[in-house]
Parts: sequence; C-alpha cells; structure tokens
Amino acid sequence: MSKPKVLISRRWPASVEAKLLDLYDTTLNQDDHPLSADEFKSALQNYDAVCPSVCDSLPAEVLNVGNKRCKILGNFGVGFNHIDINAARQQGLIVTNTPGVLTQSTADIAMTLLLMSARRGAEGDRLVRAGQWTGWCPTHMMSSDVTGATLGLIGFGRIAQAMARKAHHGFGMKILYFKPSPADQAIVDELQAVRCETLEELLPQCDYVSLHCPGGNDTRHLINENSLRLMKPSAHLINTARGDVVDSKALINTLREKRIAGAGLDVYEGEPNIDPGFLTLDNVSLLPHLGSATIATRTAMGEKVLENLAAFFNGQALPDRVV
Ligand code: DGY
Repeated sequence: MSKPKVLISRRWPASVEAKLLDLYDTTLNQDDHPLSADEFKSALQNYDAVCPSVCDSLPAEVLNVGNKRCKILGNFGVGFNHIDINAARQQGLIVTNTPGVLTQSTADIAMTLLLMSARRGAEGDRLVRAGQWTGWCPTHMMSSDVTGATLGLIGFGRIAQAMARKAHHGFGMKILYFKPSPADQAIVDELQAVRCETLEELLPQCDYVSLHCPGGNDTRHLINENSLRLMKPSAHLINTARGDVVDSKALINTLREKRIAGAGLDVYEGEPNIDPGFLTLDNVSLLPHLGSATIATRTAMGEKVLENLAAFFNGQALPDRVV
C-alpha cells in the first residue's frame, strides 16, 4: 500500500524530518522559503496531510480551494490564529496543534524579556558594542527592580502559570491575573495569585504586565492607547503571546513619550515586518519570535505533529485536535 503524502511547509528539526521521511511519502521544504498562497492551494490539492507552521497564513481563500485531497492540517505550533478555523471547519479539514511542550521555553523567553526590559540589558549591550561606555558611575543606566515587584498576567493558561511560578518562586514577585473565570484553587494557593476581574483593575497595580492570551479577533488591540494609559509610568509591558494583541502605534507613542518605562516584545503585528517606530526606541527590547526556539522544544513540537498524524492515519482519536 502506498504511504500517505505529507507536505511540511518549513524545515523542522532533523530528527523529526528523518521520521517523517521514513513513515510517509514526505515532501520537505528544502530551501525553507515561506510558501505562497498558490503553493498552499496546490499542497491542499496534492497531499493527504499539510503541516504548516505559525509563520504561514491560511485564510479562507486558500482553504476553500477546490479538488482538495488534504484531510488534516498538522500545525507545528500551539497558536492557530494564522489558520481560518471557521473555514477549516466548513471545509471538513481537521486541524491539530502542539500544546504543552512549549510551555517552559516560552515562559523562559517572557522572563528573559522582563529582565532585559527591567535592567536595560539590550540597551547596555548596544552601548558597550558602540564603544560608548566610559566606565562605572553611580548614576549610569539605573533601572527597575524585579525581585519583590508585582507581575500582572493577562490570560492565565499553561504559559502564564509557568511564568508566574518562575516569577513568584524565583523572584518573590506578587502575582495578579486577569482571566474571565477564576483559576484552579491549587494554583492560586501555590502562587498566592490574586484575580482581577477587569483590565482596569489589574493594569494600575502592576510593575510588569505580561501577555499570555491567544491572538485573533477577540483579543486584537486589547492593549491599546486607553489601556496603556492605565499602566504606571514605571511599568513594563511584555508580549510573548501574539503581536496583534497590542496596538503597535499606541505602544510606540507610549514608549516615545515615556508614559511607561519599557517593553519587551517577541511577537509583532504583521511579523516579520516590524513597525520601524520600534527600531528608533531604546526603551523596547526586541526578539525575533524566539519563545519556543530551543532544540528540545522544537523537536518536541515536531514529535507532537507526528503523534497527531499517526493517530489520524491509524483512525484513532487525535491527541491535539483543534477542529
Ligand atoms: C506557537 O507555537 O504558537 C508559538 O508562537 C511558536 O513559538
């Protein structure tokens, strides 16, 4: 019997690609170029499974292509706001994702950005490299304390909870969170976490605000001019969730006018195109969507896709079915 045909949209860790080549009639993206809409349409017509990643865009216009052979999108990533889920559902396409395995690495990047922003790490690095450091002095590059400060989490799922653990147990931070319903009592007790029922209640109390909600229409520009005005002038905003949760223009104006102390960003509206306004500011730390970028995590994400494909082709229940 011929093997199912599988298309992988970008390069994946070598060990996972080797398993895919062994198990399926797999097409890899040898030169790792971003696939165009036409290439995705053709993939949907010619493969049993298509495996996109969070950098790919799969709107209805692509998913609705006629004569589809594809039955499953095995997404390499936990976020799926780049896939039109309603269109996938209407087209009878199964979508799976990779939850659970990138929790710690993404929370680590959130904590990295929090520390970079608080202690002006990227700015200090730039200064040293530019040969502009003239030596230690008592008032040079003073910054904000992290230990004992208050961290507000917007969203309180797996990654937010991992961030809260690092912050609370590692840095003695006080934890506030904003989520529609109360979190499990065990986690609340462990972290002595306090729930805020509104953003208006949470934002003015925080020294650091870290975003951990999903992207998409429901959270688009949740952080905007009005919400930024509720933050303390000494506060920092950290975004490792999705770029469109923050109104970039409003954040750039806020940072330019120093209405908050800093921001640390791993994700951007319209990434990889970054609003050039950010590049002119010293009080923002910018990373290129590195949240899950450890060898172990990216390999585990690939293994998750393999598990979902195996379940699908063996007619079993899918471990990580989104739709
Ligand atoms: C995801 O999986 O959604 C992440 O953003 C990738 O790092």
